[in-house]
Amino acid sequence: MNVLLCGDFGADERLRWQRALAVALPEAKWLDEAGARARPDAVQAAVVANPPPGSLQGLPQLRLIQSLWAGVDRLLDDSTLPAGVPVARMVDPAMNAAMAETALWAVLSLHRGFFEYARRQREAQWLAHKQRRANEVNVLVLGQGQMGRATAARLLQQGYTVMGWKRDGAPLTPLLGRAHIVINLLPLTPDTRGLLDAAFFAALPPKAAIVNLARGAHVIDADLLAALDSGRLRHAVLDVFRAEPLPGEHPFWLHPRVTVLPHAAAITDPRSAATVAAANLRAALAGQAVAHLVDRQRGY
Ligand code: GLV
Repeated sequence: MNVLLCGDFGADERLRWQRALAVALPEAKWLDEAGARARPDAVQAAVVANPPPGSLQGLPQLRLIQSLWAGVDRLLDDSTLPAGVPVARMVDPAMNAAMAETALWAVLSLHRGFFEYARRQREAQWLAHKQRRANEVNVLVLGQGQMGRATAARLLQQGYTVMGWKRDGAPLTPLLGRAHIVINLLPLTPDTRGLLDAAFFAALPPKAAIVNLARGAHVIDADLLAALDSGRLRHAVLDVFRAEPLPGEHPFWLHPRVTVLPHAAAITDPRSAATVAAANLRAALAGQAVAHLVDRQRGY
């Protein structure tokens, strides 16, 4: 089996993936982009992490494109992506668990006011605030995919009052009206782009908080800053941004009511993800059903 491995990998990242994939799929021969260009007829499958646009065209034997990323919005943006080849998202159990941990940390910190205490420490201010119980905190999870469900389950276990919403589900506004904390885990599609805008923030109760762990383009940055500056929103925990890395001059960096993470809420774990990818590649080449296929029309 000849597999193209390509993407915008960091320094050691490519090597880590190569090692994990070689263990999970010892029968495969791995090609890089130059190797695929030299022998386009040989490439039977591709394992990709946000590959440069155009890298998957002109491969006549390609049977599966397996993403190492859970979110495939950037991959699907490539207009040269071969139309007839199935695309699979990464569904990595370790990644779901990591996402649920990050969400729990954010909710716990917001619920108990730990971000506020960190701010007060910098001002040498000794001041405790009222302590609410977990079940008095309504958390709305946007997105009911693998990560949304894992997160909701974790928060329920911890005693929070959890509500869920998905794009084609119940109307959003009444849920927003009851949400003290909103966690965004939606896929980025034309329908969800810019969903977190001024109207969205205005529908929340005063002093609500948002946690964006999905994609930066879900948020209208200027509207979020306005809602924070007016005091309408209490805090925002942001892991994802319209431009990444977040540019040094962006107001989110130093905003006292924003916590910035470097797109690290849940990183794909090569140890488990390589096993998931290997099972899919074997299935595709044996003509069997492939898991976690993307519906290109729907966008995820
Ligand atoms: C991370 O954001 C991913 O989509 O895997």
